[in-house]
Amino acid sequence: MKVLVRLTFLVLSVLVYSYQATKTGPDWWKSSVIYQIYPRSFKDSDNDGIGDLQGIISKIDYFVELGVDAIWLSPIYKSPMVDAGYDISDYRSIAPEYGNLSDFKELLEAAHKNGLKLILDFVPNHTSNLHEWFNKSVAREEGYEDYYLWNDGYVDDDGVRQPPNNWLSLWSFSGWEWNEQRQQYYFHQFSIQQPDLNYRSEKVRQEMKDILTYWLDIGVDGFRVDAVPHIYEDELLRDEPIVPDSGVDDTNWNYLNHIYTKDQPETFELVYSWRTHLDNYTNTVGGDTRMFMTECSSDMENLVKYYGNENGTVLGAHFTFNFYFLGINENTTAADLQSDITVWYQNLPSIYTFNWLTGNHDNHRVASKVGQSRVDAYNMLISFLDGVTITYMAEEIGQENGEVTCEQGQDPSAIKNCTTFNETTRDFERTPFQWDNSTNAGFNEGAPTWLPVSSKYLETNLQEERLASRSHYHVYTDLVQLKASLSAYNSSYIFVNSLLNNRLLEVQKALDDPHQSTYRLYFNTGNEALTVSLDQNYTVVIPSVNLAYTQGLTDNDLVLNSGDSVIIKVL
Ligand code: NOJ
Ligand code: MG
Repeated sequence: MKVLVRLTFLVLSVLVYSYQATKTGPDWWKSSVIYQIYPRSFKDSDNDGIGDLQGIISKIDYFVELGVDAIWLSPIYKSPMVDAGYDISDYRSIAPEYGNLSDFKELLEAAHKNGLKLILDFVPNHTSNLHEWFNKSVAREEGYEDYYLWNDGYVDDDGVRQPPNNWLSLWSFSGWEWNEQRQQYYFHQFSIQQPDLNYRSEKVRQEMKDILTYWLDIGVDGFRVDAVPHIYEDELLRDEPIVPDSGVDDTNWNYLNHIYTKDQPETFELVYSWRTHLDNYTNTVGGDTRMFMTECSSDMENLVKYYGNENGTVLGAHFTFNFYFLGINENTTAADLQSDITVWYQNLPSIYTFNWLTGNHDNHRVASKVGQSRVDAYNMLISFLDGVTITYMAEEIGQENGEVTCEQGQDPSAIKNCTTFNETTRDFERTPFQWDNSTNAGFNEGAPTWLPVSSKYLETNLQEERLASRSHYHVYTDLVQLKASLSAYNSSYIFVNSLLNNRLLEVQKALDDPHQSTYRLYFNTGNEALTVSLDQNYTVVIPSVNLAYTQGLTDNDLVLNSGDSVIIKVL
């Protein structure tokens, strides 16, 4: 009997799992899986050591195989690459090392043909100092004088020129840089080579809208908007207050409380105007929603404001990134996770959509933060919770941080100080994707790569994981399929518990499907095995790689070793 039930379940689950509709319509993004590609490190088609658009095109089948709905490309625009493309010198052309506009159109067409949406990174806060606007502004060319934030500063009692106020760069030291030619300071939130645009200029606002329209006309489906809270600064240039007992020196950004350089009222208005722009575009041109997601490290009150107002009569971003899980480590407890989840359920008005992620190109690899044994649990969590799932490339295979020395380093925020490089660099999470066990992990044909390929590629690579009967990769694709099948229904109720002295996380989801199905996720966050006693029968739907149970029906208690996790269906 048990065998029969098991067989029936297998057949059923194959049916359920093979359901994968392309998401279309106004709500396509609401329970989507968005896959972040870091183009420089994804796939190098011409063996010059740098990933490129043809490389991405050659992997279109892979996104289909993963079952993701959309790909988001970190910046691909022309750039001197001081900050790996987050310093743009021409918003309308493609970096030559990545390809050209016709490669981009080919990629877009291939994506659309395969039911994938394509989202571009949009970097409005700053340009590269090599952008022609900056040159023109430096030269005070008519019409460009106020494209950036310029100021005379003042001469102090010792006759030394000083910046106008105490504002700091996120990457340390004054945010003001003296420009010899113009004989003024300009402001930069990030590197010196990334001057901040002046959004009080109507012309700048219009330029940026035109750039959005340009890419919309080419056919992109949306944008990830960079560094949003930093767009406006206080018009009166007031000094920022010092944080009491910050423990950092006065050149460190955390030394100040950023009440005048972050989350300014005009920034929200600007975000709302972009929403109107995108919605107008969709309404005029037709087609599915053009969406945008904003990158904001802000407090909850402001995060919610970037979505829009309480009742949705004013709308902003479709969602703003949820960075609450970025700080996970091997000691993160069920109670920590419960609190990171419930804070969103408590604060985000129900008209808005959640999103969940554990990593990106600015943060260490999940496997390095939490250890291999917990990788599946975190992929489960971000896909099982309601809303959008965002996966940074190679998290589906549990790729770890690479090894990069300060001499090999590329990250401008870190290489200027080799003594702190290991603590501050973002190069570790940017090493090339590990495709297989061939030369350079299959990233290219063997040319030296812009960041070294991790030596761990022989143990961790996609090909191995595809062949293995159980692997992070298989867990991931199962999760994406399950999410797609469950997203056909509303989940009527979700609750999150931390049990057994905060060691066991339980997330329950009851669906409004014809069977009122209930699914549960369990994750042993602790260091010792524990037993989950269930008084109902249940099926194991997705087990983490090390779990002693495979898919199928059981009525036993569940034993979860440290780091194990599982999604079950309660019967
Ligand atoms: C956030 C991006 O994710 C990061 O990589 C970049 O350095 C800064 N914004 C500046 O654009
Ligand atoms: Mg290349």
